[in-house]
Amino acid sequence: MEIKTHELRCTGCGAIINGEDARSDFRCPACNDLYEVRYPGWSPTAEASDAWSAKRNLPNPNALRWLWKERRDSSLSIDQSGVWRFRDLFPILTDMNKAVTLREGNTPLYEMPRCAAAVGLEWLLAKHQGMNPTGSFKDTGMTTALSVAAERGFEWVACASTGNTSAAMAAYAARAGLRSLVLIPEGKIAWGKLAQSMDYGAMTVQLKTDFDGCVRVLAELVKRHPIYLLNSVNPYRLEGQKTPAIEMVEQMDWQVPDHVIVPGGNLANSSALGKGFAEMKLLGLIDRVPKISVIQAEGANPLYRWFINDERIMQPVTADTRASAIRIGNPASWRKCARVIETMGGYCEQASEQEIALAKAQIGAEGIGCEPASAVTLAGLKKLIAQGRVEREERVVLLLTGHTLKDSEYTIAYHRGDLLRPEEMATATAEQAAQHAALCKPPVVLEADVDVVLRTLDTEMKKSGQQRMGQA
Ligand code: F0G
Repeated sequence: MEIKTHELRCTGCGAIINGEDARSDFRCPACNDLYEVRYPGWSPTAEASDAWSAKRNLPNPNALRWLWKERRDSSLSIDQSGVWRFRDLFPILTDMNKAVTLREGNTPLYEMPRCAAAVGLEWLLAKHQGMNPTGSFKDTGMTTALSVAAERGFEWVACASTGNTSAAMAAYAARAGLRSLVLIPEGKIAWGKLAQSMDYGAMTVQLKTDFDGCVRVLAELVKRHPIYLLNSVNPYRLEGQKTPAIEMVEQMDWQVPDHVIVPGGNLANSSALGKGFAEMKLLGLIDRVPKISVIQAEGANPLYRWFINDERIMQPVTADTRASAIRIGNPASWRKCARVIETMGGYCEQASEQEIALAKAQIGAEGIGCEPASAVTLAGLKKLIAQGRVEREERVVLLLTGHTLKDSEYTIAYHRGDLLRPEEMATATAEQAAQHAALCKPPVVLEADVDVVLRTLDTEMKKSGQQRMGQA
């Protein structure tokens, strides 16, 4: 008899189904809401009355910690993966050795001393998910969901994307020998991401619409063809995307940060991290959960509007922001994310184009860098501090979701002074304007003459000496 390792629970009406029985669009036929994966004996959502939770079967936290550490020395690919190393918390495959992995995860947790000083915190860390194999956090969820697709015998996988999901899906599909179909909004994703999906051999389709339009088309396609949907409505994506929460606290010696700040687009990542923390608490791996706050771009802010609205109504918006990864007006996972914010006590904020550009330059100046969508975290943090919602001594972790090379055009335009329109720059406070002036480093074109280069270098050295004196 095959042992059932997991099942799917509708987060709307609570209906429970087997993993293989989900509809192709991963929506509940009764209430249209999304599923989450749960496990026998230890899922936080298990009801007291159900058979699984009656026999509470909690893995031992100390044994888990030890096992996860041991696996770091293993030569098995599944152990070297910073996602599958934690596979005890997501037994979703029948044969775990069939996992499709690029050794994702294992991402650094960086100290951010300059950003901490700039915002007035004693302590600030960044968990850089852009250091994954395809340059974004999407790899952590793609390795799990695509492995399920491969195990269930699908030949084609597909996603609608603002660029990072498609890059990750194309890479993992290629590793597994599957074909992949990418639907992206024409002209609205960064070139590097488009290049990745072509390089990894996906069928890349640019639709004359936005991300939300691509999602609508794909939802119909998967009903008519046996194509496995790999957007984040697929609950197996979130199982991988919860592992950075585990890795983060492991890197902090099992201390829990006070506050984790995440960018919000389709709102699956914040939901996944919330699930990860809740499960760790249930298992006794940690004794409390952090606040999780979600930051959106001002031009793509449906969750922010929900948050500030007394009636808490979600209304889709027509999205527009240069942080193209989060240019999403109708986020699929908003209910899951809203639950995380409400139960874990976080907030939602928004950041303007000017604020995002400044935050991105500040993260770049740490020698770390990230793509624009990730920089909303620092921009939002500044607001939470100003509102008194984050205190000086709080231990905050920013979740940086994408690598700086994902969108180099944005970075070059910023440093050339071509990114922000004058009316956007005009929204900067005097302090922000001074920060922009100090951070903006336009490339200079000079004659290939030592004296000319030296003269220019002298001027730059004087300028930075003056800036240092000004700061002292
Ligand atoms: N940051 C980056 C770099 C992203 O690519 C995304 C989403 C997000 C943040 C937001 O995460 O959707 O879980 O709230 N990118 C998706 C894509 C939508 O298609 O690549 P979310």
